[in-house]
Amino acid sequence: MTKNVWGGRFSQEPDALVNLFNASISFDRQLYAYDIEGSVAHCRMLAKQGIISDEDASSMLVALGEIKRELDHGGLSENDDYEDIHTLVEKSLVEKVGSLGEKIHTGRSRNDQVALDTRLYVRDVVQEVMTSIQACQKAIVSLAESNLTVLMPGYTHLQRAQPVLLSHHLMAYYEMLKRDYVRFEESLSRVNVMPLGSAALAGATFDLDREMVANELGFDRISRNSMDAVSDRDFVLDFLYNASVLMMHLSRLSEELVLWSSQEFGFLVISDAFSTGSSIMPQKKNPDLPELIRGKTGRAYGNLMGLLTTMKGLPLAYNKDMQEDKEALFDSAQTVLMCLRVMGSLLGEVSFRSDTLKAATEKGYLVATDLADYLVGKGITFREAHEIVGKMVVLAIEGNRELHELSLEEMKAYNRQIDKDVYAWLDPQLTVGRRNIPGGTGPDAVKNEIEAAKRLLRTEEG
Ligand code: ARG
Repeated sequence: MTKNVWGGRFSQEPDALVNLFNASISFDRQLYAYDIEGSVAHCRMLAKQGIISDEDASSMLVALGEIKRELDHGGLSENDDYEDIHTLVEKSLVEKVGSLGEKIHTGRSRNDQVALDTRLYVRDVVQEVMTSIQACQKAIVSLAESNLTVLMPGYTHLQRAQPVLLSHHLMAYYEMLKRDYVRFEESLSRVNVMPLGSAALAGATFDLDREMVANELGFDRISRNSMDAVSDRDFVLDFLYNASVLMMHLSRLSEELVLWSSQEFGFLVISDAFSTGSSIMPQKKNPDLPELIRGKTGRAYGNLMGLLTTMKGLPLAYNKDMQEDKEALFDSAQTVLMCLRVMGSLLGEVSFRSDTLKAATEKGYLVATDLADYLVGKGITFREAHEIVGKMVVLAIEGNRELHELSLEEMKAYNRQIDKDVYAWLDPQLTVGRRNIPGGTGPDAVKNEIEAAKRLLRTEEG
């Protein structure tokens, strides 16, 4: 039979189906440490305010410590006959200290309690995600560093566009993760608000010292409206959104790993240890890991859309619908942590085929923009230069040649000012070297960004 913390006004026991459907213990059990941490702070404050006696408080605190240890060691784990984690902790307390344990709920409701527990959970998990982002960033930076001067085609519309450095391409993902890190970091200021004292919705009648509880639990401030405090799940939505953007970034990187490991691209090889096989085709080596990261992005988006939808029509204040926040939250947290960990390791298992990458920059007129820039240097407007180079490309295509394979005479026919120094503008390596502008793909510029990234990662750590 489910043990509930209500029942006085009921003349019938709840139906078994009600308990089955209503209970959240199967998933909110993982909030136990936060539930106890909150109860400890609340209990100390009740004693300090003279609302309960010091003796009662000390025996409750000892018992709460025991319950924590038992739960840490997997005790009470089979115990699913409580409605939720708040009930489990309270009933366990009463089992240990008798009915005085019920005083723990003085001036408190499960509505402000669950808001508190969820905030404590999000605060911790955000920090864990931030640390995991950094680990993944390190893997990206070290891959960029060891491939600093490797040339590859840069794409737009998935058509070869201009030569770039592989390190520059990789460092683009470092930038995305840097924004993700900051996004999570900034969200903390909205998480770190202490809701206890709001009680069910109207605030408590007792003289609670809310600031004391906030201090004990390391919150920056207390909530300013009890109705908002028990019905606000913006901080969960923030997390789900931030997780979605992060997953979108990991998914784009995954997509490139899948694409680049194909025979069609042949840009990289993933180690056997990080690849999988086919049950029927003996020759297959599949990139299941990046595919799964890409796939799991869907569930992160789903969790965000799900909770946004759950919240949209809710009248103030607490509604049971909001219990639906937790599985989404836990799932997204677990998903991003796992995907960051897998991506960080996977990047260490990738070897790039620099010859294939370089060869790909030599076919497809990737230096055409540089040729136009060269003509601009001769005093021609860019639009005119663009037109001329377009015609030269047609000539080259017709002869199945690349631009550097056109003779000086052939080129001069398009513009007399073209001279033999033009060939320096038609070599992919040299065109990259000309882009040391800050933020550009030149090797010096990229090296600077790699060094800056390493410095930032060190300071974030320190
Ligand atoms: N399990 C509930 C939740 O997750 C806890 C709060 C329940 N409050 C209530 N009044 N039934 O939202």
